[in-house]
Parts: sequence; structure tokens; C-alpha cells
Amino acid sequence: MPRLFNFAAGPAMMPEPVLARARDELLDWNGHGLSVMEMPFTGDVFKEIASTAVSRLSALLGLPPGYRVLFMHGGAMAQLALVPLNLAAPEVAGDAGADYVESGYWSGRAIAEARRYCRVEIAASGEPGGFTHIPPQTEWCIRPEAAYCHITTNETANGVQFPETPKLDGVPLVADMTSDFLTRPVDVSSYGLLYASAQKNVGPSGLTIVILREELGGHAHALTPSVFDYSLQMRNDSRYNTPPTFSIYMAGLVFQWIEEEGGLAAMERASEAKSSKLYGLIDGSDFYCCPVAPEARSRVNVCFKLADETLDDVFDKEALEHGLINLRGHPVLGGFRASLYNAMSEHGVDVLVEFMADFESRHG
Ligand SMILES: Cc1ncc(COP(=O)(O)O)c(C=O)c1O
Repeated sequence: MPRLFNFAAGPAMMPEPVLARARDELLDWNGHGLSVMEMPFTGDVFKEIASTAVSRLSALLGLPPGYRVLFMHGGAMAQLALVPLNLAAPEVAGDAGADYVESGYWSGRAIAEARRYCRVEIAASGEPGGFTHIPPQTEWCIRPEAAYCHITTNETANGVQFPETPKLDGVPLVADMTSDFLTRPVDVSSYGLLYASAQKNVGPSGLTIVILREELGGHAHALTPSVFDYSLQMRNDSRYNTPPTFSIYMAGLVFQWIEEEGGLAAMERASEAKSSKLYGLIDGSDFYCCPVAPEARSRVNVCFKLADETLDDVFDKEALEHGLINLRGHPVLGGFRASLYNAMSEHGVDVLVEFMADFESRHG
């Protein structure tokens, strides 16, 4: 069967050359007579695989001195708790807690989770506009005593993305970058910490990447589980316990693929080209609509609705017949969503755009 065009929000498409290489290496990695899956995480061979992955990622990002890359478990959801536990313990932050920018569904989840561990103040919210824009930084209220300010750079469910990195003075900026990590260059030095789960642009699920300024570690709340204490993981090169070894190996292959494709600047150009085609079709039609303000539209999760929602099931069924799958929107928000992560080809978007234009001509 030919491969389908998978527009899922994650786990998502993987680059085909990466899958092919993993298949070729599955039973015997590099003449070692073992699969990567079977290797002890404490052995020199796996350590080399993991450190190569860190080096490739650091090169892609231009990681500044003083920052560390951690490979962790638990997905981005775990980080929603681990960020306040590690950075906003009462011994460091007193009762100040942290500031959060609310820009959609996932920042809402981050706020609710952080409230279990510390005081949370909303620095700004896009809720009054129905989460169709990013609140401008001039309207943010950041408390100088806050342990950090948290943003979600791309709202996977709402299709809203920060067009640029906010610049904060003094208070560390923390970002959930789960859905746009590695889709454009990042100025890491603007962040105290950023995190992303892997299953969108990095590799299979099971791996979470955390990048942090080293000095932010070492102040975890006393009840933080040891495996989730950033400083312990830093000291142990992400091997305090068994890391998700196969996912780390796959991530390393994806980093190499991105490098060979031209790095993050090339990923950004591709994201712009793909999303512009789709938004172009949506904006040129009364049949489809996207409520998100043009300047805040996500380049990686294009959310749209059919003007006549009674056609939703037919749209979905016909899309499937064209090999276009997983286009339904987030269950909480409905509508449709085309996730255009790095592994989605421009050809896949062309097929989608052609299908949508044809569907409109027959049902519009
Ligand atoms: C922006 C964002 N944050 C957090 C999560 C949760 O990630 P996980 O399921 O890996 O914990 C998701 C998942 O889609 C997401 O898109």
C-alpha cells in the first residue's frame, strides 16, 4: 500500500529516509550484532549514540554556552508539572510563583497543572478574542518577582503561533515548544528553559526534550521525584534512570536528516511554503474559514472549518479516499486541522489543497 498523507497532530509523520534507515539498522546497529533497542543504556555504544544526538541538536539550534540538553520521559504533560516543581519551589520563589501567558488550549492546561504546585498569575490572555491572536507583549503584566514566565509558542489545538520570541528582562522565559520545535530557528539565549515532546517533529513518542540554562537547575521542590529533578538529570547526562533509548536513537536520525535538508532555516522556508498554500485556499473561499488572525496563524497546525458543518463527515470520508488522513480538529474544539510538521512534504499539501478545491466545487 502506498504511504498515506498523515496530517495528525502527533504522533505524526516521520521523514521516510529516517524510517528506511531505522529499518535497515533494526537488527544490527553498525555491525555490533545488536539492535539499539537491546543495548544497555550505560554501555559505551549507546552513550555514543546519545551524545551524537545531543551534538547534532546543539549544532542545529546553535546552542549557546551555559545551556544543557536533557532527554526525559513523561511527555510535555509531565513538564507542565516539572517546570513549577523545579523552578518555582517556595525556597527560591517564596510565594511569588510564576506568570503564564494564556494563548489557547495547551497553555490553559499548563496553567491548571502549575496551579497544583505554585501560585500562578495570568500575565496576559487571548481568551477575550476566543484565542484567535497572541496578546501583544506591550499588554503583558510580568511581575519582577515571578520565578519565570511561561508561554506556549504554538497552540497545537487552536492553530495560533507566536510570530516571534518575546524578550523579557530579568524573569526567565519558559516555553512549551512541543509542536513547533525544530520547525524554525530558535534564539535559545532568549529562554531560560524550553521543552518539547518528540512525537511531532523529533521522532517517536516517549522522549521529551528539555533545554535549560544550567544555573536554573538545583532548586527543585523537595518532593520532586528524583528522575524528574533537572539537576540530577544534568549531572547524569540524562541517564539517572533508563532513558527512552530507541526514541533517542530515532531523534538522532531526525536531527541528521534536518541537517542534510539544510537545517532550521530550510525547515522554516518549507513551513511557510506549505502553510501559505493552505491558508491561501482557505482565504480565497467562503466554503472554508480560519478564525485565527493572519499575523498569529500557525505555520504547523492549520485549523479550519467548513461553513456548512453538516458536510464534515463527507469531507472526512472523501479525504480518506484520497489518502489524506487524520484531518479532524482537536476533540475539544472540533473542525479540521492539517498538521504540517517537517516530515509532511509540499507534495502532500498540494494533494490536500487540490482535494479541498475539488470538494468545494462539488459541494459548495
Ligand atoms: C503544545 C502541547 N503541549 C503539550 C502537549 C502534551 O504532550 P504529551 O502528550 O507528549 O504529554 C501537546 C500534545 O499535543 C501539545 O501540543
